Amino acid sequence: MNILVISFSGRKGAGNCSKISDFIQEHLHGHSVNVSSIRMADLDIESCTDCSYECFDSLQKCPKVDDLNAVYERIMESDATIMIIPVYSAAPPALYFAWRERSQSIFLTEEICQKFDRVKKAFIIIGNKDAGADGAVTIINVPQVQIQLKRFLNMFITG
Ligand SMILES: Cc1cc2nc3c(=O)[nH]c(=O)nc-3n(C[C@H](O)[C@H](O)[C@H](O)COP(=O)(O)O)c2cc1C
Repeated sequence: MNILVISFSGRKGAGNCSKISDFIQEHLHGHSVNVSSIRMADLDIESCTDCSYECFDSLQKCPKVDDLNAVYERIMESDATIMIIPVYSAAPPALYFAWRERSQSIFLTEEICQKFDRVKKAFIIIGNKDAGADGAVTIINVPQVQIQLKRFLNMFITG
């Protein structure tokens, strides 16, 4: 079984998400699973800017060249992906939003949607309930939104 751990923290070094990622990997070590990790802060995931809505058309490609596709390849190769997301200013962090908004350019075919659906996902959201963490959970608690939206857009485009 392949498990991928993704940290969306902006803090690379001794951040809490890094520590939790390390803990999960140490805990699973020796349990007949392959665990690998990604730290989004190490990657180049650009937010949506300067485009012509290419991702609204399944025949076109997102003009951005960065690490987004590589992250999705790793997710789709995994059996389960654990996403660790800190709460910043009562919301998920900028790295999460950049990844999520760009995700629309990934789900171009039903086959890709199904491949993504097949992967089990777990979300660890770190923050205080009294300090806006609930709002972050509400935002994150719709992991399939981008897929549904893409399906809708495909239907719309293809009639
Ligand atoms: C810029 C910033 C804003 C934060 N805002 C909130 C917040 O609004 N609510 C909350 O519960 N925690 C907030 N926190 C605390 C973080 O969610 C918490 O410390 C988390 O464990 C940070 O993970 P990290 O060290 O991997 O970045 C904030 C932390 C930072 C750095």
